[in-house]
Amino acid sequence: MKEWYNKINEAQSVDALEEIRIAVFGKKGILAAEFAKMKTAPNEQKAQIAKDLNNHKTALMNEFTAKKIALQTQELQEAMKAEAIDVSMFSTKSSAGALHPVMETMDRIVEYFSSMNFAVKTGQIVEDDFHNFEALNLPKYHPARDMQDTFYFKDEMLLRTHTSPVQIRTMLESKPPIRMIAPGAVFRRDYDLTHTPMFHQIEGLLVDEEGKVSFANLKFILEDFLKYMFGDVAVRFRPSFFPFTEPSAEVDISCVFCKGEGCRVCSHTGWLEVLGCGIVDQNVFKAVEYKNVSGYAFGLGVERFAMLIHQIGDLRSLFEGDIKLLEQFQ
Ligand code: DAH
Repeated sequence: MKEWYNKINEAQSVDALEEIRIAVFGKKGILAAEFAKMKTAPNEQKAQIAKDLNNHKTALMNEFTAKKIALQTQELQEAMKAEAIDVSMFSTKSSAGALHPVMETMDRIVEYFSSMNFAVKTGQIVEDDFHNFEALNLPKYHPARDMQDTFYFKDEMLLRTHTSPVQIRTMLESKPPIRMIAPGAVFRRDYDLTHTPMFHQIEGLLVDEEGKVSFANLKFILEDFLKYMFGDVAVRFRPSFFPFTEPSAEVDISCVFCKGEGCRVCSHTGWLEVLGCGIVDQNVFKAVEYKNVSGYAFGLGVERFAMLIHQIGDLRSLFEGDIKLLEQFQ
C-alpha cells in the first residue's frame, strides 16, 4: 500500500493523477483486489483486514483529493502565465493614415478629366435658389424639385442639392469655350442604404460654338472615362429626363459584380446606373445670356463609384468613421 501514497504524491499532472485514481479505486483497482482476497482469509482476521483496508481507502482518498487540488491550481497558474497580456505595454504599430475611399475615388476621377484638359471649379456649398434651381431650368414649383429636397436658410439660401450650380457660376464668370468639372459635397434630405444627407458629386460641362458639340462627343468621353475607372465594362445610354439637358440620358455599365449575368446588386438586370448626362438645354444658356453655343453636361455620385470599386454594401458606413472599415483601404 505504501507505494500508492508515494505515487499519488509524485504525480506530475492532473491526467497522470487520474490514471492513478483508476489503478487504486477503479473496479479492477488494487483496493478491489485486496477486498477480494479477504474471502479466503481466516474468519477471525477478516474484521481486522476490512478495518485496515477501509482506513487505507479513506487516507488514500484524502491524499488524492489534496493532490488534485494542488495540481489543478498549479496548472491554472501556468496557463495564466503563458497566456498573459500586458495591457500597460505601448503599441509599436503606427499608421501614417490614408485618404478616405471617397476622396481617393474623387482624385482618380479628377485625374482623368484633368488629363482631358477640364479645369477644376469648386463653386460654393451654401447656394441660392437661382444657381441651384432657377437658372438650371428648374423654376419654382417644378415637380423635379421634389427629388431634391434640402436644408434651407432664410432669403432663399440653401445647401446645394447637386454640383450643377457650378455650371451656372462658371458660365457667368467666364466666356465660352468652357471645359470644366466641379467636384464637391452636396446635400439632400435622404437617408437609407444608398443615400446619406451629405454626399459628393462631380459635375462636367463643355461649351463651344453652336454645332460644335454633339452627343457623339459626350458618348465618346464618358465611355472612355468609365473604362478608365472600371476596366473592361460594357456601357449603355438610356433616354432619361433632366431639366437642364435635352436630350438627356442615364448611363449604365455592365454589373462589375456579376459581369452582366444578373445578381442582387444589379437587381438581376446585369446593369448598374452610374451617371446622368445630356446636351445642355438652350434655356440654361438663356439664363446666363450665352448665344450661339452648344454644349454637353454630366453629373455623377462619387460614393456610388467608391462603393462599386471597393465593393461596399452600405453607403452610410463610409461616414461612420469606423477605423476597422477605413483601414482596409490603406
Ligand atoms: N444634377 C443631377 C443630379 O444631381 C446630375 C446630372 C444629370 C448632372 C445630368 C448633369 C447632367 O450635369 O447633365 O441628379
